[in-house]
Amino acid sequence: MKYIYITTPIYYVNAKPHIGHAYTTVACDVFARFYRMLGYSVKFCTGTDEHGKKIEQSATQAKIEPQKFVDTIAQLFKDLLPILNISNDDFIRTTQERHKKTVKHFWNILEDKGYIYLGEYSGWYDMRNEAYFSEDELIDGKSPLGGEVQYMTEPCYFFKLSEFGDKLLKFYEENPDFIFPAQKKNEVISFIKQGLKDLAVSRATFNWGVQVPNDLKHVVYVWLDALTNYLTVNGYPDNEDQNNDKYWQTVHHFVGKEIVRFHALYWPAFLMAAGINPPKRIVSHGWWLSEGEKMSKSLGNVQDPKKYCELFGSDALRYFMLRELSFGSDGNFSLEGFINRHNSVLANAYGNLCKRTLSFIQKHCGGTVKRPETLTSEDSSFIGDVDASLSEAIPLMEQYAFSKYLERIEQAISLANQYIDYQKPWSIKESDPKRMQNILFILLEQIFKITKFFYPIIPIAAKKVLTQINAPYELKIVFGEKIPDIVTINEPETLFPKIETTELEKLDVFAND
Ligand code: MSP
Repeated sequence: MKYIYITTPIYYVNAKPHIGHAYTTVACDVFARFYRMLGYSVKFCTGTDEHGKKIEQSATQAKIEPQKFVDTIAQLFKDLLPILNISNDDFIRTTQERHKKTVKHFWNILEDKGYIYLGEYSGWYDMRNEAYFSEDELIDGKSPLGGEVQYMTEPCYFFKLSEFGDKLLKFYEENPDFIFPAQKKNEVISFIKQGLKDLAVSRATFNWGVQVPNDLKHVVYVWLDALTNYLTVNGYPDNEDQNNDKYWQTVHHFVGKEIVRFHALYWPAFLMAAGINPPKRIVSHGWWLSEGEKMSKSLGNVQDPKKYCELFGSDALRYFMLRELSFGSDGNFSLEGFINRHNSVLANAYGNLCKRTLSFIQKHCGGTVKRPETLTSEDSSFIGDVDASLSEAIPLMEQYAFSKYLERIEQAISLANQYIDYQKPWSIKESDPKRMQNILFILLEQIFKITKFFYPIIPIAAKKVLTQINAPYELKIVFGEKIPDIVTINEPETLFPKIETTELEKLDVFAND
């Protein structure tokens, strides 16, 4: 058995989820479904990051107890999962007892091994915004947030990050694929080459966090707390020997580009210090922009994934997100772009191909088709081309090239549409019904194969099509798969109704409540 462990970042619960959060989760879900289809045992986890000053402040502003505040928002993230049709195995919240236990255990190990020490943190403190800044961050003697600053020193625990520069560089060299894409790796390397300072890993100016063991004045730095979630969901510390754990050896952390440093530098350093192997891969993706700006609540340009799913279905949103952005790059999220892709590919190219083939079989073959005894050279080259496109798709998914994977599927769909348009089965229904049925059988078998490759992205529609085709199937990728020699199909139905652009004004996809 092969294993893979896939994680999303855990989401901050200071605002409700938007398209950007949905994106990381959907990409991981597609990856998880694909690996299940390749026969792997998959562990796929997501969750929420609930501690820290920002969250404490948001709760205070909302005049709600922090625990109540995080309960409400964490629930919104949890509720979004079935709406997006996410197949996660666990949902972790950093306020859960199981997690606090892991963080404390991990802290104790780092401390016992001599990597944590009590020191003093000094810097320019902006009292109004409760944040430290270094000299070179100040603007006209004030903090970058506009507050008055004073030089302050306070006790703080440090992690000996400065000891890990060479070890990390050696690790990246020995594991050249550790960070995807490569350009992100270069950024991390040049950051290390500037020299690593020890990292402050506790805070004593607020208390919404995991208590530092044996020093109740301090809470654990939110990133050390949050990163440890990946061990909690893998059963640590009860499952202590992570280096021999089948899932841990394969862990893929999917993250947005702005949090690569935390995952590719701090996290491996913490793990190395604790004697645990670093993750296998950090897979970083770009941002969804809205008119050139990163979506953010404060800019009022965030779009609500729930609304898209309610209006158009989760399959359509999943497809658009993975097709539109080349993984790793930024891109614009627009309703127009969404509708274009939906109508041209899902409704037209794929939806119509399935509908017209199945309806034709229903109407002119009594719902049953048989495998042809012989194939023409055109049939064979059509089948060969579809197989070639699909076989090219597999390594693309393995390299996180979701959009290119979908391009290959679309190529196979367009081959099928060309075949049907060229063969014109409707034109020979009187003169050569046998040839007509042969054409339809061949089409049906190709639709079956294409649909299975499409399944990780559009699981609801794909299952509908597989049910309509009525051939026994397993959700496995089997190369050059065949349907039985005689197939009687079920009632065909429309998969993706075309979205009429005249309806656009009625749609409000911005999350403004
Ligand atoms: N809590 C930390 C992660 C801790 S993981 C140990 C965090 N949370 S977050 O809620 O701010 O972001 C979570 C993920 O959502 C990140 O991967 C981030 O890149 C992604 N997105 C948030 N906005 C986004 C876009 N506009 N576009 C694409 N993804 C973005 O960071």
